[in-house]
Amino acid sequence: MNILGINAYHGNASAAIVCDGRLVAAVEEERFNRVKYAAGFPAQAIRYCLKEAGLELKDIDHVAVPRNPYARLGTKLFYAMRMPSFARERIKVLTKFTGIPEALAQAFDMDPAKVTARFHRVEHHQAHLASAFFVSPFERAALLSADGLGDFASTMWGSGTGSRMKIEGTIAFPHSLGLFYSAVTQYLGFLKFGDEYKVMGLAAYGEVEQLEAFRDMVRANGDGFRLGLEYFTHHRTGPEMSWAEADKTPVQGKLFSEEMEKLLGPKRNPEEPLEQRHKNLATALQARLEEVYLGMLKKLAERTGLKAVCLAGGVAFNCVANGKIFDTTGFEQVYVHPAAGDGGLAVGAAYYVWHQILGKPRSFAMDHAYWGPGYTRGEIRRAIDANGVAQNGCRVEELAEDTLMQRTAAIVADGKILGWFQGRAEWGPRALGNRSIVADPRRPEMKEILNQRIKHRENFRPFAPSILAESTGEWFEKSHPSPFMTLAYPVRPEKRGKIPAPTHVDGTGRLQTVTREANPRYWSLIKAFERLTGVPVVLNTSFNDNEPIVCRPEEALDCFQRTQMDALVLGDFLVTRS
Ligand SMILES: [Fe+2]
Repeated sequence: MNILGINAYHGNASAAIVCDGRLVAAVEEERFNRVKYAAGFPAQAIRYCLKEAGLELKDIDHVAVPRNPYARLGTKLFYAMRMPSFARERIKVLTKFTGIPEALAQAFDMDPAKVTARFHRVEHHQAHLASAFFVSPFERAALLSADGLGDFASTMWGSGTGSRMKIEGTIAFPHSLGLFYSAVTQYLGFLKFGDEYKVMGLAAYGEVEQLEAFRDMVRANGDGFRLGLEYFTHHRTGPEMSWAEADKTPVQGKLFSEEMEKLLGPKRNPEEPLEQRHKNLATALQARLEEVYLGMLKKLAERTGLKAVCLAGGVAFNCVANGKIFDTTGFEQVYVHPAAGDGGLAVGAAYYVWHQILGKPRSFAMDHAYWGPGYTRGEIRRAIDANGVAQNGCRVEELAEDTLMQRTAAIVADGKILGWFQGRAEWGPRALGNRSIVADPRRPEMKEILNQRIKHRENFRPFAPSILAESTGEWFEKSHPSPFMTLAYPVRPEKRGKIPAPTHVDGTGRLQTVTREANPRYWSLIKAFERLTGVPVVLNTSFNDNEPIVCRPEEALDCFQRTQMDALVLGDFLVTRS
């Protein structure tokens, strides 16, 4: 039985395909259309998933869409009556979603009447929860989804046993931890969709300032929280994110009110310098998020008595907060879906149909994130030839595995910057050793070199370490696996000086624990680096330069040429500048 999951008309448009309970492919549309967080209809992602599964649209039995426009209809009607713009927006959303079967048929030049698949609407947060629980290794777990907003809710929690989830609580519009974080992110002058990540990095540079003010913005309320609505605007202007029709870039309207400026002082404009006050406010924002998020998790642990928790939703990308779960909540095991944001909904909706609707037993755990496109040796060779890199003063060699690892590890140990392109592309926003830029973690200057030469991004943003999983406890104060870079732990104080480049200013690292089983080649590279240097860690950052992570070998070669990377590995090929 074949189930196609589609996250459409929403940020991080994506598709996934599940065949007889086994995930075959999952990818975000941005990897193909090269627009970061692209919304719209993910036609290319769907086409890839079908191709990977060897199927055609007519072979699909079920289509799962992670959105139910009819959820919380009473609340929506209440707001629609107060806000005509909101009512218009609702009608637009409803039309788009009810038109998904036609959009699908159109994308494949099919007569809509011939699309025989059964369509399912899965509520946004139930799809998030399903994305975390049904592919986790746990038979029983507590579940929490928290994000900006989806289907008029921001938070949902419950528990899962086998192939069933039970929902126990929801926080509805306009109260949202994700929108709280987004609003203060905007106030601090970071206006682009997805900029919350930058503010989380910035938070490590400050001292908590005005925590009481942040506690007034998000107030404790029973098992959850409420927003101090005077500081926000979304409840007056409408909650929907839109996207530019031309290039499908998601756009979030202004979220903070003048009252927030009265409370915290004047907002920062993007071109203004970052002052200590801004850093302190970022620290306080992160502190308040942690109080509320970890507080909710603690109550969830107490109520359910469970030791494992599964997390999804954009807030679950807050790796700093996630790293504190073990010490503060009572949970001992954590699984965060690698595409915890809305991209992951395609997988979640598909598994919701397989388990929750069709009642099928569990048989799959997602223990790696390599579900995107991969390329053959021939395709890589053709890309190298077409790019003309060899004629551009670069040396191209095809090497045996052992030689390739030794040569590559030596390049990294020599302080060079390496592009590393292997196997199938990662699912979700983190590069996890298949579309990565790798560098020497021992060199303190590496962070600045990468930010300036390759990534062209703010200097305060940290880089991440990839570590051999078996060495985690020796280098970090926690050793619970973090295969998808969704947890940050303190680096052991005696090791901080040994890996300064991916150690953040507060002494933590957003680590990826790499097992030989999940990624044998990346594991071998780090192992070879350890043999040379005694350090089982490399610095890993995504293979891109202010664009979606590269997907095809052609894009890797372009990025290599454009930036000042020193070497590039594409499968078995090593490209070096001579
Ligand atoms: Fe979401």
